[in-house]
Amino acid sequence: MCGIVAVIGSREAAPLLLDGLRKLEYRGYDSAGIATIESLEKVKKGSLTSRKAKGKLTNLSSLVDEEGSSGHIGIGHTRWATHGKPDEINAHPHMDQEGKVAVVQNGIIENYRLLKEELEAQGIKFASETDTEVIPHLISRELKELKSKGFDSNGLTLLTAVQNISTLLKGSYALAVIWVETPDSLVVASKEAPLVIGLGESEFLCASDTPALAGFARTILPMEDREVALLTPLGIELYNSEGIRQQRTPSLLTGVEHVVEKKHFRHFMLKEIYEQPEMADLWIARHFPKGFAEKAQVALPFDDSFYEPIEQIQIVACGSSRHAGMIGAYLLEQFAGIPTAVFYASEFRYAPSPLTPNTLVIGVTQSGETADTLAALTMEVNRREGQKDTAYQPRLLAITNRVDSSIARKVQHILDIGAGLEVGVAATKTFLAELLAFYGLTIAFASHKKSKTDIEIKNFIHEIQSVPHYLREVVQKHDQISEVLAHQFSGTKDVIYLGRGINYPIALEGALKLKETSYIHAEGYPAGEMKHGPIALLDPHVQVISIANPGIVFEKVLSNSQEAKARDAKLIGIAPESAELEIFDKILPIPEVSELISPLLTVIPMQLLSYHIAANRGLDVDQPRNLAKSVTVE
Ligand code: G6P
Repeated sequence: MCGIVAVIGSREAAPLLLDGLRKLEYRGYDSAGIATIESLEKVKKGSLTSRKAKGKLTNLSSLVDEEGSSGHIGIGHTRWATHGKPDEINAHPHMDQEGKVAVVQNGIIENYRLLKEELEAQGIKFASETDTEVIPHLISRELKELKSKGFDSNGLTLLTAVQNISTLLKGSYALAVIWVETPDSLVVASKEAPLVIGLGESEFLCASDTPALAGFARTILPMEDREVALLTPLGIELYNSEGIRQQRTPSLLTGVEHVVEKKHFRHFMLKEIYEQPEMADLWIARHFPKGFAEKAQVALPFDDSFYEPIEQIQIVACGSSRHAGMIGAYLLEQFAGIPTAVFYASEFRYAPSPLTPNTLVIGVTQSGETADTLAALTMEVNRREGQKDTAYQPRLLAITNRVDSSIARKVQHILDIGAGLEVGVAATKTFLAELLAFYGLTIAFASHKKSKTDIEIKNFIHEIQSVPHYLREVVQKHDQISEVLAHQFSGTKDVIYLGRGINYPIALEGALKLKETSYIHAEGYPAGEMKHGPIALLDPHVQVISIANPGIVFEKVLSNSQEAKARDAKLIGIAPESAELEIFDKILPIPEVSELISPLLTVIPMQLLSYHIAANRGLDVDQPRNLAKSVTVE
């Protein structure tokens, strides 16, 4: 994964690179580095400087402050380790042996072992354990080859070298390259990994994602798959994989929030949990404008032809988005009556289910950049496009928080969850916003397919409209309860979350949130499955958290919780206050709402408990170890 930035222009590169990296740190924070070239005019000879530091970007910033890094051209990287430990040696930029070519890369070079063996056999010594390091060595070898054929040291030669070696690379990558002999040329290339060029005034900044361009460029040029570009202070030359020059009009950079403040909150995660009631309010205002609820309708950006042919739905997603997809599937099946299956995107890509006609495939991804989800959708498009029968044509919908992301460029239909920028790496408000999107989609399908009467749909809408009010109450209350309760978890090593029916995915999400933020081992199970194995784990040290919301599985969940209690596990219930359930050692109260809308509320105590346990342990809640907000490698 990782984030890359590259700049060329009239200003000092290092501050621009550091600013861009700060906005990309959500993509990984194991290490960071920059390389800059001081121009020939100043020193009569190009001089390449590289600065790298392990850990967060602040370490690199301090290093650059101390040791300096000058030049008007440079590349930068913030790393999420894939190949090689997260230490300084493996931090990007990587260089060739002579220190003349520097490269930053986001992606994975799948055949790097073979390439490395070949280069080592030619006497090249590697300095790192990364897959990326083969690239500067290959470029350096190619540059020597080109020069021996009479090529000059200029930007086009560097571009040609990158084009030539790119045919040797397997996998996906976005990369930026500088060469000490051409301090006025920057080459960038992308294959199945995002890269956007921002156009400034006589300067260009290229980055993995648009937030890094905010404040720098008003117009952008997103690179298409397998394109290579040469950037100089004079302009951009863009080439496709066949080496044919491309001409495209830049588009306006929109929808990027420039500054996000923590305000009075200790962490972004807590602030974002608190933003959920207002976000739900806005969502309701947008999707149930005047008269819509009364007519049992929801305002979504699709016409009848979108809904009518659909006979089944497949959802592909990862992490929290997959959990949101599971709740979506429950709603689409149980309320709208459409057979729906949910897949791990990473599994679906290599083992898709047999093709079915008139199928809507939904990719759910808050970032819009998750490589597994994008790859699953690409695979689906490819296999469907080969079919003669139009019933099998691709019908793709993205549910995302980033309408300017890679997924948005891949699909015909987009549902913008409109959650605003989420800084905390563990998803909270984007998860709730994805859920709301599924509630909207379910109502739309139920109304088009007439699977529910208008009265039933109207009642459902009214229940959804009451959610922001309940959310306000639940967030306030559980912030206080969880802060106190978190102390009881100071020595806890294992937590089991139980839920059934529509709340089973909330048990999974609760366990994921705790793992991500607190590093406590946690598992979510469908409560009825407990007795088939996981029950063997229970003893007085294991904490069990059970979601017991009145509805068709209420009594069943209570029985399953009793089974855990009988094994001396400590039992917490997420249940209505009024239920007076004495089997629980502690109740985390939620308002008594219908089972179908309950996940919108039961997830809140899960989020807040995870937050307070992590904060209480003094952990880095917003940037937990080993994680990244946007996972752009397979
Ligand atoms: C990463 C994040 C998770 C997130 C998952 C899917 O693993 O750490 O919190 O749920 O990616 O992200 P997406 O952007 O596709 O929703």
